Amino acid sequence: MKANELRQKYLKFFESKGHAVIDGASVIPENDPTVLFTTAGMHPLIPYLLGTKHPSGTRLTDVQKCIRTGDIDEVGDASHLTFFEMLGNWSLGDYFKKEAIAWSWEFLTSKEYLGIDPDRLAFSVFAGDADAPRDVEAHDLWRACGVKEDHIFYLPKENNWWGPAGITGPCGSDTEMFIITDKPACGPDCSPACDCGRYLEIWNDVFMQYNKNADGSFSPLTQKNVDTGMGLERTLCILNGQTNVYATEIFADILAGIEELSGKKYTDHDEYTRAFRIVADHMRTATIILGDRRGVTPSNVDQGYVLRRLIRRAIRFAGQLGMPDGSLGRISSIVIDQYKDVYPELEEKRAFILEQLALEEERFDKTLTTGMREFEKLVARLNGSRIDGPAAFHLYDTYGFPIEFTLELAKEKGFEVDTEGFAACFREHQAKSAAGAEQRFKGGLADHSVETARLHTATHLLQAALRRVLGDEVKQKGSNITAERLRFDFSFPRKVTPEELAEVSRLVNEAIAADVPVVCEEMPVEEAKKSGAIGLFENKYDSVVKVYTMGSFSKEICGGPHAEHTGELGTFVIQKEESSSAGVRRIKAILK
Ligand code: SER
Repeated sequence: MKANELRQKYLKFFESKGHAVIDGASVIPENDPTVLFTTAGMHPLIPYLLGTKHPSGTRLTDVQKCIRTGDIDEVGDASHLTFFEMLGNWSLGDYFKKEAIAWSWEFLTSKEYLGIDPDRLAFSVFAGDADAPRDVEAHDLWRACGVKEDHIFYLPKENNWWGPAGITGPCGSDTEMFIITDKPACGPDCSPACDCGRYLEIWNDVFMQYNKNADGSFSPLTQKNVDTGMGLERTLCILNGQTNVYATEIFADILAGIEELSGKKYTDHDEYTRAFRIVADHMRTATIILGDRRGVTPSNVDQGYVLRRLIRRAIRFAGQLGMPDGSLGRISSIVIDQYKDVYPELEEKRAFILEQLALEEERFDKTLTTGMREFEKLVARLNGSRIDGPAAFHLYDTYGFPIEFTLELAKEKGFEVDTEGFAACFREHQAKSAAGAEQRFKGGLADHSVETARLHTATHLLQAALRRVLGDEVKQKGSNITAERLRFDFSFPRKVTPEELAEVSRLVNEAIAADVPVVCEEMPVEEAKKSGAIGLFENKYDSVVKVYTMGSFSKEICGGPHAEHTGELGTFVIQKEESSSAGVRRIKAILK
């Protein structure tokens, strides 16, 4: 089976069961300050799982671009990827366990779809605890499909519960589906819970009927939802009986490109295997981030920082493989060609992607030159032959000089490096930034509180006012809203003057004082465009979008939470205007 066949079959099957095929969302979440990237198919759908009406109905299916970088250092092994695609289908308060299970069974076993031998399938269901009961219903539904008793396993929360994606939000017990491999059971207790390799998970049906609250308790959601997820790369690998994701067709062209540029052969098991995989994985992810409609550029904060890290790591490992300068663009072009039919934005942004990669290569080169100079200074000052941990960390932290380079140079020149001391400084630094991140995310995932809705509404007014004062070249580049403040990034080539900012504030407060209703209308995206609505036209040509209008002041396509009247907003105060990245300004503001 090939990737495209799996995507097509999945969407076609769920379309035949009354699901609307929707576009996957951007890989950079809108209106969710708690995470940097979209991590699951359900993530952009959180407002709808919580009860907001979705314009395409109550049964949805899509392919979602997902990024998870928590395990970036594990990339290079057989299974970790920083980018993957998730196939999913959803019931928003529509069908529940009975249909979800029957359809999962049909898709897995029917000859027309995956055609898996039923004897090769196993299932896990939730064993029950104080928060939610044992899922006898799911068990019985699998039995009714014809599954043998010894192919169903009751497992505890650590295995059979999914979510919330952040700290709070929708979650529930799940039932997971596994392929049984030829590996013999590892013992009498062998089950899908162990990682001996006998059971490989391919799909997950989550019965999302609870909300996890900030105090850790669970309350029932107003509607019972189904959220399912099938990882495309992983499932392809398992269905085709391959032992690692890099053996799938998905990586064939990319690895061949690296072979050609490096003059080395990719194998599953030699000293270069890891470097090949890291370059392949990181360039795929970097291309997807740069080529997203909400794509960012490399920087030292948030998504831009992750992107920078991916590119620089790819450069380092490309160097190990002996790939010449400028190779990244060549690999990225292969990724664009491979994915442009599924994600047309990649083709639209091809020139931008290649330009940004070349720029980042140049910048990294400069960093290395500075780092080497600092290294020389450091060793010239040294008393003895040992570089201590804090000194090595300083090179890394202040000059961005990778520790691997310090180690290599030190070795060449006969110095030792206190790597444990470096690791200690590194851990301390990480602990500090983790504490910062927790602070920042204390609002919890998908905070759809009244405060957030108000600040979000104020963001529409802010954008409208900026366009009036500065001109139509102002376009939204990003926004990040918590219950306390809003942050809005927009394209504009220079600093906004205090006078201009004062005028922007005055216009926003005037629109608030007018106390006009916030009107929501649903219409096809083309009609929205014609009506003069601004916003990201990232949806399919014929898809239906929500357009929010506030008097004659603002008209914008949006999916987020809103206030009902502008009068609810209070007083709008700009706290700061600063540069965000080249050609992009950032405004921070609050409501009093
Ligand atoms: N949210 C679940 C997952 O990520 C199912 O889609 O596995």
